[in-house]
Amino acid sequence: MNHPTRGHNAYYLTNQELRESNARSYPRRIPIAIKEANGIMVKDVEGKNYFDCLAGAGTLALGHNHPVVIEAIQKVLHHQLPLHTLDITTPVKDEFIGELFKILPKEFSSKAKILFCGPTGADAVEAAIKLVKTATGKRSIFSFHGAYHGMTHGALSLTGNVSPKQSVANLMPDVHFLPYPYSYRCPFQQGGDLGAQTSSHYVQHVLDDPESGIVSPAGMIMEIVQGEGGVIPAPNSWIDQIRSITQDRGIPLIIDEVQTGLGRTGKLFAFEHSGIVPDVVILSKAIGGSLPLSVVVYDESLDKWSPGAHAGTFRGNQMAMAAGTATIRFIQENKLEIQADKLGNKMMASLKEVQKNSSSIGEVRGRGLMIGVEIVNTQQSPNKMQSYPPYPELARQIQHECLKRGLILELGGRYGSVVRFLPPLIVTEKQVDIICEIFDTAIQSVERKLLHFT
Ligand SMILES: Cc1ncc(COP(=O)(O)O)c(C=O)c1O
Repeated sequence: MNHPTRGHNAYYLTNQELRESNARSYPRRIPIAIKEANGIMVKDVEGKNYFDCLAGAGTLALGHNHPVVIEAIQKVLHHQLPLHTLDITTPVKDEFIGELFKILPKEFSSKAKILFCGPTGADAVEAAIKLVKTATGKRSIFSFHGAYHGMTHGALSLTGNVSPKQSVANLMPDVHFLPYPYSYRCPFQQGGDLGAQTSSHYVQHVLDDPESGIVSPAGMIMEIVQGEGGVIPAPNSWIDQIRSITQDRGIPLIIDEVQTGLGRTGKLFAFEHSGIVPDVVILSKAIGGSLPLSVVVYDESLDKWSPGAHAGTFRGNQMAMAAGTATIRFIQENKLEIQADKLGNKMMASLKEVQKNSSSIGEVRGRGLMIGVEIVNTQQSPNKMQSYPPYPELARQIQHECLKRGLILELGGRYGSVVRFLPPLIVTEKQVDIICEIFDTAIQSVERKLLHFT
């Protein structure tokens, strides 16, 4: 067999397999080596172009190498600004905080404090847990089925997916999982408003029942739209209820906006859809303008920890802060959150059209430019809610067919059976049409093969 030569995907993938950890994940489903990237497009080393609807797992709000981001980075470099300052302040940092606080709702930002973290989303989650534990003196944390909060020990403890937890002993104790309003696979077999109401009623019951077995928590952490869990948007009414339940009982509510933050769901912050005021907001991904940055912003009443209570060397990435400021400004000036809402609706409508001619789509759902298509097995019987079993093998084939046709999509959700669309917010109407067309032809091709073999 010929050894693959430099310049071919196989060359880099072979090297990667030889040298990199077995824990690598994306390359297993997206086996390409990326050479160049611009806007929504990436080009592999063989010169093939792809629409990137993974966008750094939601990080690249402005797509790859956006001019305002590049300009901000170049400015830092050309003016000999420090690249790294731990948590010592700088004009670049001061400006970033100012811009971020300007776009957060006033009721929240007017009494908020900010902590720069790790710089990963997971480190900000760790910080948020420590924050509420320190402030309340309590030890347990509530999270939700299907939640994703990261891969560090504490964050993984709060994550729903059991697969990466199974082989890690002694995760953080005192984490309790509650039912998220996932209508298509409602744990109460009710779905819709009724399923969501049962969920919030159950949450309240667990908190108030002196025999629930769970001590009063230090905090509750949740996503407004569960991303990795399968793109599951919680209804506004449910979010409102959860806010009232936690507020009435003095339980700090931590909103994880790592994936939803900065316009993706059609509002600058996803919690704005329901109008709630959280106690703690976790931000990462988009706020660094594609460079590593993460922060926790929280109500000043929780600021009970002592100096150095949460530290970390890489809290002072100046290029990320400059790129973040430029990204925030660009999103705001161009109202990209409104664009995300508009184009998200368009994409969702097109995907629902695809669903009409498909035998393997259970549900198309999402908010803004965070969309999921749940792939199901309609050859098996549905449950009493008319939901079919997940079909992960088919989802993988669809992903593969899309990749062959120049479209990068990722899978998520239960058993990896949800095809996820996370394009950059700068995607155009025309590109949305092309992306949906590619998806349509890919799913048709997979379904034709399926018919052939059954
Ligand atoms: C909602 C949410 N929280 C936390 C994280 C963890 O972020 P990171 O991968 O940067 O640690 C992610 C990552 O996808 C996420 O989607």
